[in-house]
Amino acid sequence: MDAVPQALPGLDPRSGRVIPPDFLVPQEPERYTAQDHATWRTLFDRQTELLRGRVVPEYYAGLAALGITDQGIPDFAQMNEVLARATGWRVVAVPGLVPDAVFFAHLAARRFPAGYWIRSPDQLDYIEEPDVFHDVFGHVPLLMQPSYADYIAAYGRAGLAYAGQPALANLARLYWYTVEFGLMRTPEGLRIFGAGILSSAGESVYALESARPLRVVFDCERVLRTRYEIDHYQDIYFVLSGYDDLPALRPAELDAHIAAARAAPEIAAGGRIAADLPSHNNVGAPG
Ligand SMILES: [Fe+2]
Repeated sequence: MDAVPQALPGLDPRSGRVIPPDFLVPQEPERYTAQDHATWRTLFDRQTELLRGRVVPEYYAGLAALGITDQGIPDFAQMNEVLARATGWRVVAVPGLVPDAVFFAHLAARRFPAGYWIRSPDQLDYIEEPDVFHDVFGHVPLLMQPSYADYIAAYGRAGLAYAGQPALANLARLYWYTVEFGLMRTPEGLRIFGAGILSSAGESVYALESARPLRVVFDCERVLRTRYEIDHYQDIYFVLSGYDDLPALRPAELDAHIAAARAAPEIAAGGRIAADLPSHNNVGAPG
C-alpha cells in the first residue's frame, strides 16, 4: 500500500471523503482510470483461464449472469439489478476493511461490502487489503447461488449475536475455511469454492494440486477449533460435499457447536486429528 497515504481517523485516503459510521461510500465508477480497468482486465483474463476446470461450475454461471467480464471494473449498480432479483443481495462500496460489527450488520442485511478501489499494477499477486478484484471477482458470483447467499446472511446474524464474545474467534474460522478457503467435491472432481483461493493465481493451483496441504472432509466443529494463518498459502483445506454441507447456523445449533468446539483443544493450522477424514479426490491436473 506504499502508494496510498495513511488514513486519518475517519477519512478515506483514496477519495479524501469522510467515512460514515456504516462505512458505505459511493462507488463512482466514472472515477476509475484506464489503468484501473486495464489492471482488472489483466487479473480477470489470467484468473478465468486458470480457473477453467478448477472452480465450482456455479461460479462461472454467476459471472455470466452478472455480466462480470474483462471489459473493466463492474458497475455495482448494474450488477445489483441482477443480484437483488436472484437472491436479495447487493454489493455496496467500502473504502477498505470494516470493523467486525459493521461487516456483520451488512451481511445480515444481505449487503456485501466490497472495496471499490483496485490494486496498482505492481501488486497483481499480493495485496494486504481486499480490493475490488478480490471482493467482486472472488465473492460476488457465488452470491447468485441461493444456499451460499443464505449461508453468508446467516453468518452475519451469528456474528452480531456473538459480538464482543470470545466465541467470535471460532466463528471467524468458519468464514475463513468456507467462504475464503473452501474446496468442494463435485461430480467432476475437486473444485475451488473459496474467494481467497479463486482470486489468487498461485493458490488456485496450489490448493488443488500441491501435495503439501492437508485436504480434510468438512466438519463444522473441527473447523471451529482450527486456527488459521493469513500470510501464506493455507496448510489445510476443508472439502464440502456440496452447498447443503454449509452449516445452517441456526442459533441453538450453532451455540452447541461452538460450546463443543471451545471445550476441546484448539488445532494448529496444519495439525491433524484422529477423527479427520481425508478427502479422497483427484489431486492433479484438472480435467
Ligand atoms: Fe474475501
